[in-house]
Amino acid sequence: MTDTAAALDTAVALDAADALGAHVGRFVESDEVISYLDGNSLGRPLKVTAEKMVSFIRSDWGSRLIRSWDEQWMELPLALGDRIGALTLGAAAGQTVVADSTTVMLYKLIRAAVAARPGRTEILLDDDNFPTDRFLVDGIARECGLSLRWIAVDKTAGVTADQVRASVSEKTALVLLSHVSYRSGYLADMPGITRIIHDAGALVLWDLCHSAGVIPTELDAWHVDIAVGCTYKYLNGGPGSPAYGYVASALQSELEQPIWGWMGASDVFGMTDAYVPATGMRRFISGTPPVVGMLAMRDMLDLIEEAGMPAIRAKSFALTDYAIALIEELLVPLGVTISTPIAHEFRGSHVTISHPSFRQVNEALWAQNIIPDFRNPDGIRLGLSPLSTTFAEVLIGIEAIRAALTR
Ligand SMILES: Cc1ncc(COP(=O)(O)O)c(C=O)c1O
Repeated sequence: MTDTAAALDTAVALDAADALGAHVGRFVESDEVISYLDGNSLGRPLKVTAEKMVSFIRSDWGSRLIRSWDEQWMELPLALGDRIGALTLGAAAGQTVVADSTTVMLYKLIRAAVAARPGRTEILLDDDNFPTDRFLVDGIARECGLSLRWIAVDKTAGVTADQVRASVSEKTALVLLSHVSYRSGYLADMPGITRIIHDAGALVLWDLCHSAGVIPTELDAWHVDIAVGCTYKYLNGGPGSPAYGYVASALQSELEQPIWGWMGASDVFGMTDAYVPATGMRRFISGTPPVVGMLAMRDMLDLIEEAGMPAIRAKSFALTDYAIALIEELLVPLGVTISTPIAHEFRGSHVTISHPSFRQVNEALWAQNIIPDFRNPDGIRLGLSPLSTTFAEVLIGIEAIRAALTR
């Protein structure tokens, strides 16, 4: 038997023994995909969602029409938020809402947070935060007369507790950090760093985009103030599905978000002269919620409930361990470097590898229906979704990278 055939046998055996393996068949299959390794950018759709979309158009929208607002849609952003909170965030009900794009939700909550700490003049963040986060605070700092303090991080890892301790001060209004680095997949110490920020009297906002639905968190127990996550990656909400925002209940009445719309007012249909924010999480809604974008994630939440977050996290470790072992064996000898932490305690669910020719390699892979993603300047990210990615797909992807590098 050749090495390649033996490796494939191993991958097939791992899939057969995988406790979550049976769920893979619940996602839409396609002849145009041989290996999908980009679940950290856009999760795959569930088959059941296709059926439910048709029924939504015929029934909830087509027949119930405007009545569906009273019957279910007005409460949907809060009900869905509570479900995400309970299943994936460690958040009690009444603290999570689904609305807006991630960028807009981040803007609203960053702006509200800095206004809630008057007299403090700085926003602290790391220099490898996702572009939208960095651009937003730049704009908000200009808008509000604040300054930015940057923590320079190792781009193959991420922000550490010691770095935050050395930079946070009585001047800091808000610290904005990512739980899992979009670039390296590094998992930050959310409870430890949150404590350090609170000791300095500042607020913290965690960007959960790369952990939502794949890394369990305990936002209430860790006393997190604010968090925002996106729903089209591991929550499989579909392209552009709206974000969720979490605000700890003790903080909600203190935060005044800047986009005052009728849907966040205390009397939505009162048609009042002036804006008075609703109590609770409704105040963080601005306009009509994007209902269609909230449908697919409901099905994924059902699946997450069935599988359970501990099993999902265990499979995420198994997939990333397997990928790292293959990369060390097949790609490191070809000059590829691993730009992802090896230790489990610092690992998210994607593995990033670097090589000067990866832009061209990624293009070649896409042409073969093998789909990771490329991140400037030289990184390929392998985003492994525990409920839809197989060990065989990981092997196929890494073998294809090896073939492209040796061609
Ligand atoms: C870490 C992180 N933050 C924020 C965003 C921005 O999200 P959106 O484009 O939904 O506004 C993304 C998008 O991929 C992201 O990965």
